[in-house]
Formats: sequence, structure tokens, C-alpha cells
Amino acid sequence: MKVLSLGCGGFIGSHLTRRLLDKGHSVTGIDIYNDKIEECIGHDKFSFIRHDIRKPGLGLKEMVADADVVIDLIAYANPGLYIKMPLEVFRLNFVENLKIADACLSLGKRLIQFSTCEVYGKTVVSFLKEELKDPEDPRYATFSEDSSDFILGHLGKHRWIYSCAKQLLERVIHAYGIEKNFNYTIIRPFNFIGPKIDYLLDETDGIPRVFSFFMDALINGTPMKLVDGGHHRRCYTYIDDAIECIYRIVMNPDNVCDRQIFNIGTPENEVSIRQLAEMMREIYNDTFSDKRRPLSEIIEVPASDFYGEGYEDSDRRIPDISKARRLLGWEPKWKLREMLETTMRYYITEYLKHYREQHADAHFHDIVHKALEIT
Ligand code: UGA
Repeated sequence: MKVLSLGCGGFIGSHLTRRLLDKGHSVTGIDIYNDKIEECIGHDKFSFIRHDIRKPGLGLKEMVADADVVIDLIAYANPGLYIKMPLEVFRLNFVENLKIADACLSLGKRLIQFSTCEVYGKTVVSFLKEELKDPEDPRYATFSEDSSDFILGHLGKHRWIYSCAKQLLERVIHAYGIEKNFNYTIIRPFNFIGPKIDYLLDETDGIPRVFSFFMDALINGTPMKLVDGGHHRRCYTYIDDAIECIYRIVMNPDNVCDRQIFNIGTPENEVSIRQLAEMMREIYNDTFSDKRRPLSEIIEVPASDFYGEGYEDSDRRIPDISKARRLLGWEPKWKLREMLETTMRYYITEYLKHYREQHADAHFHDIVHKALEIT
């Protein structure tokens, strides 16, 4: 199969590229960054083009014409950026992505569009807690692709521009399906974790997700910050499980994925952000800490201090994955603790060694050495 992968150099894209090449497919990949796919560059079935789709000169239509299937992973997907530059988030996540969908529509190509679990927004519990008999009932927070409603905050909470841009893109693609017989599959990832997820606090890369914030804090012995008390909950999925599901969607056996939306997540791995912090701290203490530096303390910070004004959180989100189970026979396997251990080890060994220059103190070298010994 000839795959065009837009955004192939990101966290999900880099793992997917590896899987597609390993399975013998040809991949043309486009991204601004190439550091996460360095190992694939040079592979005889991989053509990499370093390009920002916002800039002219890519020749998108020719590339789409040449592909059997198009995968669009291009997005800003870190909440800090929704607050810092909402217009750019809208422009990239809707305006630029729509151009890709339009190219696929005009050339009759199947599009696999990455969206987000964030389209579901908040739960009804977030504003009706007092009136509900059992606000902890997971049914209030379990989202199904084809029946759950979307609940977003008011305009002053501009974090939701990302969710809204993705939702609008989904709606346009869906309408293309109805009116123009467009063939697509939409994927809504629920918090994937694994090697290469985000840069740590690297000034050039903006604001990462919570795993990277916590890792950075642990390595440097600085506080792990719980935004608004860390009581919000997420369901984490290991990247290998996610890639297995995505690969099946790309293969599309018996066309079961045509015009379908899929949640990809692990309902059993639900955790509050406070519990996540505690678990990561415990793993770090047991496995990686040199015990000479005190462990990071866990502190609470208001969202307005951490992200700035305009932030509001998804309080809880549990994926209903019955569709992926039924149509694709997919079942996630990884438990939270083992995925954290594996991902933390990766960061400390493989990834952070590239940052020796910046973190060239004795403490950092000790951590890397310790992790290498265990690997
Ligand atoms: C983000 C994106 O918005 C989603 O589109 C994407 O699907 C998702 O990541 C993902 O990783 O799949 P979110 O879960 O809000 O969504 O991203 P994080 O930045 O990892 O935040 C998770 C929670 O941790 C939030 O409650 C946040 O307030 C909290 N947080 C973050 C902290 O308590 N401390 C930190 O240092 C950072």
C-alpha cells in the first residue's frame, strides 16, 4: 500500500511510520521535524519531505494523487498552546487540515483524519454535580462515537477553540460523506503515552503534556504541579496498543472503517492527575532516583497561574471502545504502571542523553547511568 502520512514526524506519526515500513508498505511522510523518525530516514520505502504545510510549494495534490490512503496527523495538540495562540491553533487544526480533506475529496482518496477525545469536552457532572444522584457513575463520563453529545465551555474559556476546530473539521468531513460520498475514517485518541511523546521542557518546543512536565520535575527535583488540585481524570493508552488499532484502521478489512469514527483508548486505565503524579514519583523513587537529591514534592497550582486565563479542563473522559472491539477485534493490553515504567525509562536513557549538553550536571549523569544499568 502507498501511504501519504502528513505529520509523520510527531509522536503518533513516528510510531505509525515504523509499523507501516515494517509491514512492507511505502510511506511518503511530511513534517516540520525529523528527529523522531531519524531511524526511518534512508529506508528504501520511505520518502521524507521536510515541509510546513502552511507554506507554499508542497505539491499536496500530486502527493495525494499518488497515494492509496492519506493519513492526516497534523495538529497542535498541547493545551498550553490553545491558551497561548488560539488563532494559530484554529488555523492549523481547521483551515490547513481542511485543505488536505479537500484534496482527498477532489481526487477520490480515502482520508484517515486524526481528531481528539477533546471534542467530547466536559461531562454533565462538571456543572450538575449537586443534582445528580451518583456523580461518580462512570456512565456520565463514558463517551461513544456515534451517540455522545459534546459539552464545551463559554467563549471566555478559549481552551475549547481546539476542541471546536477539530469538531468542525469532523463535521465538514462527515458532511462530505453524506453529500459527496467521501470516504473517511476519523480517529479520536484518548491520551496515548509512550516513547517520543513530547519534548521535555525545551524552550524551542513550547508547552508539553503532563507526562513530560512531571518527568522534567522528577529529573530536576523541582515540584510536580497539580493544576487545580489534579482531580481531573484521564484514561491512558500505551502507544503500541494504539498503533495496533490504527494499523487495523489503515488496513480497513472488508471496508469496516469506511465513514466510521473510532475512539482509541483504554477505559481500565483511568487515573486522576494526582494519582498519576504519585505513581510516577513512586516509580522514579524505586527505580531511577539516586537518593541524593530529595524527591520532587507535589504541589497544587491554580490553572490561571499555570496556563493563563482562558483555561478550563475536561473533568473526566472514558472511551467507549466497543466499536473498535467489534469491528476490528482490537483489545488494548498495557496497564498504566507498566506503560509509565517503560516510557520513563525511555526518556531517561534514549532521549535525555541527547540533552547532555543542557543538563550536563553530575546528577543528570547519575540518572542516565542508573537507567542504562537497568535496561
Ligand atoms: C491533550 C490534548 O488536548 C488532547 O487533544 C490529546 O488527545 C491529549 O492531550 C492526549 O495526550 O491524548 P490533556 O489530557 O488535557 O489533552 O493534556 P495534558 O496537558 O496532558 O493534561 C492532562 C491533565 O493534567 C490536565 O488536567 C492538566 O490540567 C493537568 N496537568 C498538566 C497538571 O496537573 N500538571 C501539569 O504539569 C500539566
